[in-house]
Amino acid sequence: MCDATKIIKEQKAGYQKLIQPNRYLITSALPYANGLKHIGHLAGAYLPADIYVRYLKAQKRDVVFVCGSDEHGTAIPIQAMKEGTTAQAIIDKYHPIMEQNFKDLGIEFDIYHRTSAPLHHETAQEFFTALNNNGDLEIKETEQYYDEETKTFLADRFIKGTCPNCGYENAYGDQCEKCGRTLSPDELINPVSTLSGKPPIKKLTKHWYLPLNKHEDFLREWILKEHAKDWRGTVVGQCKSWIDGGLLPRAVTRDLDWGVKVPLPNEEGKVLYVWFDAPIGYVSATKQWAIDNNKDWKPYWQDKETKLVHFVGKDNIVFHCIIFPVMLKLHGYIVPENVPANEFMNLEGDKMSTSRGWSIEMDDYINDWIKKENGGSQLADSLRYYLTQIAPETKDSEFTWKGFQDANNSELGSIFGNFVNRAFVLMHKLCNGKVPPLHTEEMDSKDDILVKEIENGKSKIENLIENYKFRDALFEVIELARKGNKYMQEKEPWILAKNLEQNPDAQKLIDNCLHLCLQLCANLAILINPFLPFTAKKMLYMMKVVDKMLDWDNAGKIKLLSVGYSLRAPELLFRKIEDSEIAEQMEKLKIKSQKSKDKNVENLNAEKNSAGSEPTANSQLPTLIKPEIVYDDFAKLDIKVGTITAAEKVAKADKLLKLEVDLGFEKRTIISGIALHFTPEEIVGQQVTVVTNLAPRKLKGIESNGMILTAEDASGKLHLMQPQNKVDNGSGVS
Ligand code: 2FM
Ligand code: ZN
Repeated sequence: MCDATKIIKEQKAGYQKLIQPNRYLITSALPYANGLKHIGHLAGAYLPADIYVRYLKAQKRDVVFVCGSDEHGTAIPIQAMKEGTTAQAIIDKYHPIMEQNFKDLGIEFDIYHRTSAPLHHETAQEFFTALNNNGDLEIKETEQYYDEETKTFLADRFIKGTCPNCGYENAYGDQCEKCGRTLSPDELINPVSTLSGKPPIKKLTKHWYLPLNKHEDFLREWILKEHAKDWRGTVVGQCKSWIDGGLLPRAVTRDLDWGVKVPLPNEEGKVLYVWFDAPIGYVSATKQWAIDNNKDWKPYWQDKETKLVHFVGKDNIVFHCIIFPVMLKLHGYIVPENVPANEFMNLEGDKMSTSRGWSIEMDDYINDWIKKENGGSQLADSLRYYLTQIAPETKDSEFTWKGFQDANNSELGSIFGNFVNRAFVLMHKLCNGKVPPLHTEEMDSKDDILVKEIENGKSKIENLIENYKFRDALFEVIELARKGNKYMQEKEPWILAKNLEQNPDAQKLIDNCLHLCLQLCANLAILINPFLPFTAKKMLYMMKVVDKMLDWDNAGKIKLLSVGYSLRAPELLFRKIEDSEIAEQMEKLKIKSQKSKDKNVENLNAEKNSAGSEPTANSQLPTLIKPEIVYDDFAKLDIKVGTITAAEKVAKADKLLKLEVDLGFEKRTIISGIALHFTPEEIVGQQVTVVTNLAPRKLKGIESNGMILTAEDASGKLHLMQPQNKVDNGSGVS
């Protein structure tokens, strides 16, 4: 708890409401600039932070919201190898796209910085120097993995091997992507260099270490005692298991040429570890923001009155709760007041993964839904709504396109949008397009209850947001709209209007109903604003009021719209999402995932075919991930024996052979990547096993109708998979 919160809490003991400090520094995890980010990332670290910040700003608190691209670490040069370009070109490509994607989805950072900026390099170096000069770092000489072929020490992602925790064979030297465990290269079983594909040797090298073990008491006291109750259970649990597992000194430098140089003489070829420099990116972003806005950055990091909150995904917990806080403490900076980390969001029954093509990139969503239509920002809000409704705050959650459609059509449209629309339509029809008066003497218990609901709604929502329960807070906003619908349904002003001639006094009841409904609309605009800012803006336009009305202080009041004030005609807040649009997205997802599988297979073949030659960009790709399958998956394959009756080289393709294969019932043309292993002459007449029901694919303009199965020996040589004895062509394999 930061001092300001603590003091006020103590002073106000006995009061339920906690008065919050006035200065906030809010951060969202800096995304790696190595590719597009998906909506799971958005839901994890960016959208909840944006909701929180918009709420704080509506409260008129002093808030700075920082983020930026994480442009160091081995992820960047590895992506450069995949794309056949330079690390600099990669960050220059992805940084602006990511920045724009966030904007299009309404994520409003005060600054979106980048860690390649000179200001960041200086800041990170200053941080390192201060800790080093103060004796807070240890220097150790240890043996580390080294690739003799490429003459490179193998940091993090340049080394792969079997995960000691789950047995996954392609775990990286810093983390297993399957079980999520943070690893060190020494823990990998059968390590190989991702640069040459060869087993590495050990070689002596010197590095600087942060001795986390010396800070165990601080961490225990600060996390497990002070924050045991107010931090999320999942976060405290993960920290506890790290601390109980025994904290070790952690290297904060690497042998690499991409990153922030170690600021010491004669230490060429050494950079700061990406996880040392990246969180300092929050500090350098704040500095840049201060320069741009003529402010002082220091109070945001050095004054104990500031409340620092890091929004991250669960894979970043250890860095933000253990390592960075130790660095901050040593440097005399404040430590976070909270780290409301989210769990993961799955997609249609599987883990979201860009590399497997099972993901919805923010960029794709923006292109498919937002840019395609006029006023498409409404669909940014539809996504923000659904992602918040299913936010993985306490456990993993799941995005489905059907769920997205339902959330948009049945909740946003049918409850929220419908209520606002009805209130405006009826006001135009029954009250001359003006805010009708409230005849207090005619108010009944239903009116009183609605007024109470509006008053209470504000404090309920406020409390939930203050406690990082955005999902529940959003539910309460919709609940209020639901209550508005119910109230209107019970009051039936349209029925009263039919009998005005017989009962002219009924106009007062109509006025009261619509007066309250319109005041509720104004309240809903304020309360929905942190979640759906584009919708709130549209509502302001309809009400002809200025942004100031969205001040949080205005919520809970029923005098927001003046009597007699004329309002605009309603606009559709949320359009219906059609079944066909959902089907299209499902199809797109399947195609994308298939393409990505094909690409991985191609890369595998390229790896096979180039065995023994120089490593190519493609051969450094992670190998195909093959999860466990059930028998039904296997049974989908139609594998048959056939005989190669003709073979020839494919023009301008060293690795491809064009084969004619007799499968008994038909002859097939198959293009196979085996030309470096077999001559056309030696292969004709051989029996082979063929996967016959693969979708046809064009390679070098020739359609290939099947795949020949081969086995690869230790030297990389391919061998045909053949039946032990000759069998009839067309014989099935199972
Ligand atoms: O996991 C990631 O994407 C990291 N780039 C997050 C860094 S957060 C902070 F430390 F900068
Ligand atoms: Zn694992």
